Formats: sequence, structure tokens, C-alpha cells
Amino acid sequence: MTKIEEVLKNYSQRFNQEIARFFNFPEGDEKRVTQAMHYSLTRGGKRLRPFLVYETSGLFGVDFEHSINTAMALEMLHTYSLIHDDLPAMDNDDLRRGFPTCHKQFDEATAIIAGDGLLTYAFEIMSYPQTAEDPKMRCRLIEMLAQAAGAFDGMVSGQMLDLIASTYTIHNNDAKDIIRHIEEMKTGRLLRYAVEAGAVLGKASPAQTADLINYSRKIGIAFQIADDILDATGNEQLVGKTLRKDTDQNKLTFVNLYGLDMAKKIADELIEGAVADLSSFGEKAENLRLLAHYIVDRNH
Ligand code: IPE
Ligand code: IPE
Ligand code: MG
Ligand code: MG
Ligand code: MG
Repeated sequence: MTKIEEVLKNYSQRFNQEIARFFNFPEGDEKRVTQAMHYSLTRGGKRLRPFLVYETSGLFGVDFEHSINTAMALEMLHTYSLIHDDLPAMDNDDLRRGFPTCHKQFDEATAIIAGDGLLTYAFEIMSYPQTAEDPKMRCRLIEMLAQAAGAFDGMVSGQMLDLIASTYTIHNNDAKDIIRHIEEMKTGRLLRYAVEAGAVLGKASPAQTADLINYSRKIGIAFQIADDILDATGNEQLVGKTLRKDTDQNKLTFVNLYGLDMAKKIADELIEGAVADLSSFGEKAENLRLLAHYIVDRNH
């Protein structure tokens, strides 16, 4: 195990232990939806987004307890996006994080409302005073999360574009402009939020925030390129999802457009740039640098 895998594993264990206190299962039949929410949240997951919140806010001395609510809310929101992404009307996947997808384990309607439940709960958690004592800071964090997740240059807009792009018959030159935007929206926005939220929690200066945003935008696109490369070349056991689907579903990806070697090269260049963006933080940002490399070198 590499150093960053070890650090990430330790963080994930700590993060996972926190989940239980966010769940009170109701007595009535409606508990099915909380069970489905809990199921999807606790079946695997690398916890990269929470880790980014933790590491970024940690640059400014914010500890685990003071970043956990934002980290938890973000992971819930991400998990909702995966539940909906896997639905038959979307990518139609049976396997997620090595387990049956939410709609396979429960049923389609339950999976839809479990997604709704996680999305809504994420915002409830963000509104708690423990998320950030200063109400102004809390409001800013909530506003940024809504923007990152939403339909106006947020994750939802990226998911829409991803679906529409799969109906294109030719991947022409326009596609090369569109693809960057799609990857940045559908995947990059939540990763960027993780870093931006860390900067807000840590009261970073405008210059520090700008460096961190530059870093996060690059790792966001590189992360999705790596996901597309894993779809084409990965080991299904390790990745925990059904692979070799992007081509069958005519997805517009860096791999389909540029080929594997070029896609990898683009991702590597983005990572080099992202690492350079952290230069002003010195040693403290070592884990963020290692994470950037891990994002493109990972096998799951
Ligand atoms: C998968 O994200 C969906 C994409 C945005 C590509 P992750 O690879 O972070 O998934 P988990 O959370 O570790 O399962
Ligand atoms: C998913 O992208 C992005 C979101 C869920 C917002 P993909 O469709 O490529 O993710 P996987 O491969 O199913 O995890
Ligand atoms: Mg998808
Ligand atoms: Mg998918
Ligand atoms: Mg994918």
C-alpha cells in the first residue's frame, strides 16, 4: 500500500464510523427509504470528496470534527448522484462499489426516493450550527454546494449533457470542446466543491483560494478521465462496477475521442499542473499532491 492509500484508508475508517450517528431509523414502513440511503452510503466508496474537504481545511488548521459535517453532506450528495446515475433510465448499472446498485437491492422507485433523501439530508446537515458556527459561513457553504450540485453549471447540468452527448452520431471537432465542459460539470464540480469548502472553512485568503480552485479544476477533469480509462481497461473486481460500458452506451469520453494513450497523457499533464498549483502551501499540502497522483494512477 502506498502512503496516500494508507492515509486515505485511515481517513475513510474514521469517516465511516461517523455515519451511524447521522441515521435514526424510523419505526414505520417509511424506514425502507432510510435503509436504502444507508445501504448505498455504507457499501464501499473511496471517500475522496470528504478526504479533500478534510485535507484542504486542514491546511488552515481545521480539524476532523470541524470538517466532518461538510464532508458527510458532500458524500451523501455524491452518493445520491451515483444512485440516480445507475438507474435504468440513466446508465442502467447493476453493480456499484462492489455491491448491487440501490435499485437492484431495493427497487427502482425506492432508489429514486433514496437519492432524493440523501440530497435533501445533505442540505439539512449543512444547515446545522455544528457545520460552521458562523451563520454567514454556513450560508456561503450551502450556496456553494447548491451551485456545485445544480442545473446551472453544476453536476446536474453535466449529467444532462452526458446523456445528450451519448445520442450524438459522430464525435466531431465540436466534441473536443464539449467533452471538457461535460467532465468538468458532471464530476469536476463536486470535487471542486470539496476543495472550495475546505478553503471557506479554513478562511483561506483570496490568493490561497484561487490556487486551490485551480488545483481542484485540474484534478476534477483528470479524475473523470481516469474513470473513463478504468471503464476501458480496468479490472471489474477491483473497480466494483460493470466495465466496458462507455463504448456500448456511446458515451462521449476522453478515451473514445482521443484514444487511451492520449487520454492518459492529458490526465498526467493536468495532474502536473495541479501539483504545481499547490506550491505556495509547501510541505503541508503533501497529501493533496499525493492524492492528485493517486487520482490518475488508481486501479479502482
Ligand atoms: C464515481 O466516483 C463517479 C464519478 C464521478 C466518476 P468515485 O470513483 O469517487 O466513486 P466512489 O465514491 O469511490 O464509489
Ligand atoms: C458519473 O459519471 C458522474 C456522476 C454520477 C455525477 P459515470 O457515469 O462515468 O460514473 P460511473 O462510471 O457510473 O461511476
Ligand atoms: Mg453516467
Ligand atoms: Mg455511470
Ligand atoms: Mg464511468
